[in-house]
Amino acid sequence: MADGIIIGSDHGGFDLKEQIKAILTELGYSVTDVGCFSSASVHYPDIARQVSEKVSAAEFSRGILICGTGIGMSLAANRFPKVRATLCHDHLTARLSREHNNSNILAMGARVLGIETARDILLTWLNTDFADDRHQTRIDMLDKPPFV
Ligand code: RB5
Repeated sequence: MADGIIIGSDHGGFDLKEQIKAILTELGYSVTDVGCFSSASVHYPDIARQVSEKVSAAEFSRGILICGTGIGMSLAANRFPKVRATLCHDHLTARLSREHNNSNILAMGARVLGIETARDILLTWLNTDFADDRHQTRIDMLDKPPFV
């Protein structure tokens, strides 16, 4: 069984979240869904907080956040210590977000992506390891003043 993943979306990302959840479940991941649970309007910072607090506290090693563009979710998530939320648009950004940034939250925009691109981003992000070496120095800088 693969690791657990925590996932959330606003109304703009609801349909894509359901599709991503189905893929994760099929892959054997245990998925914790914090909502939203319909396409009724909600506020993306509320959802981002629920996922980001758990990743920040290391209760989950990975999270996924989806809104219309992915921008609001990534803005909100990156305010939490130790969260490295990366807004990915394609295979390359998904790969480099893991290799260079050790991304622990994947943000996607449902209004930007089709399901095949979203699936490719998801699988790439799940299966790419952090490259370490010089990139760890840069990540360590993010955990110190003036960033925190
Ligand atoms: C919601 O209308 C929309 O603003 C949200 O889904 C997202 O795109 C924000 O960044």
